[in-house]
Amino acid sequence: MNVPVIAIDGPSGSGKGTLARLLAARLGWHLLDSGALYRLTALAALRRGVALDDAPTLARVAAELDVHFESDGSREGRILLDGVEVGAELRTETTGNAASCVASVPQVREALFERQRRFAVAPGLVADGRDMGTVVFPDAALKVYLDASAQVRAERRYKQLKEKGIGANLADLVAEIRARDERDMNRSVAPLRPAEDALMLDSSTIGIDAVLDQVMVWMRERLGEARH
Ligand code: C5P
Repeated sequence: MNVPVIAIDGPSGSGKGTLARLLAARLGWHLLDSGALYRLTALAALRRGVALDDAPTLARVAAELDVHFESDGSREGRILLDGVEVGAELRTETTGNAASCVASVPQVREALFERQRRFAVAPGLVADGRDMGTVVFPDAALKVYLDASAQVRAERRYKQLKEKGIGANLADLVAEIRARDERDMNRSVAPLRPAEDALMLDSSTIGIDAVLDQVMVWMRERLGEARH
């Protein structure tokens, strides 16, 4: 199997989800939103009343996760959990924080490992997460670590929430983002960190277009013109 993979890792709010989606669309490749798998595991656990520190049961929930991503390409499609569409609930702060808790359980990560690897299908995969370059796709053709300051990430989140008519407090958002980073970076298994061979990009002061342009330049250098 020699399917090219672009691994995009970084903290929440760095813009990596948007970057991954745009890249996949530009290249006509598949997209793996690995955070969604952790969020879905957390949702399934919450719905079944499983405690977020009950490792063996959480691992079983992850292994048996009945999830279907309706778009099989780069487009954002419906996500079905147990045959029922998951809506906005998937993207709430509550679900994100619960996902960060279940993601720190090694057996959960193990249970989701093969499922993530199966997304690597021709012509290529753009994989978005925290450990794509370090653990899941260590042989990725290109690894990008996209970062941004906690303040900038909180401001982006604040703006998003405001657009949806949801009130939020900026200082609280900064604190929440720092707490989530802390948990993601300091867990014992697959902590959030750049792979040794990752190319670093900071989106604090540049827009998504400039980020995408830079990654396309790296992509051509690594994979050559022939692929796109
Ligand atoms: O990226 P997103 O915010 O959807 O991820 C939710 C949570 O899932 C993250 O805070 C992180 O704890 C976890 N996650 C992970 N490994 C990944 C993707 C997400 O641990 N590859």
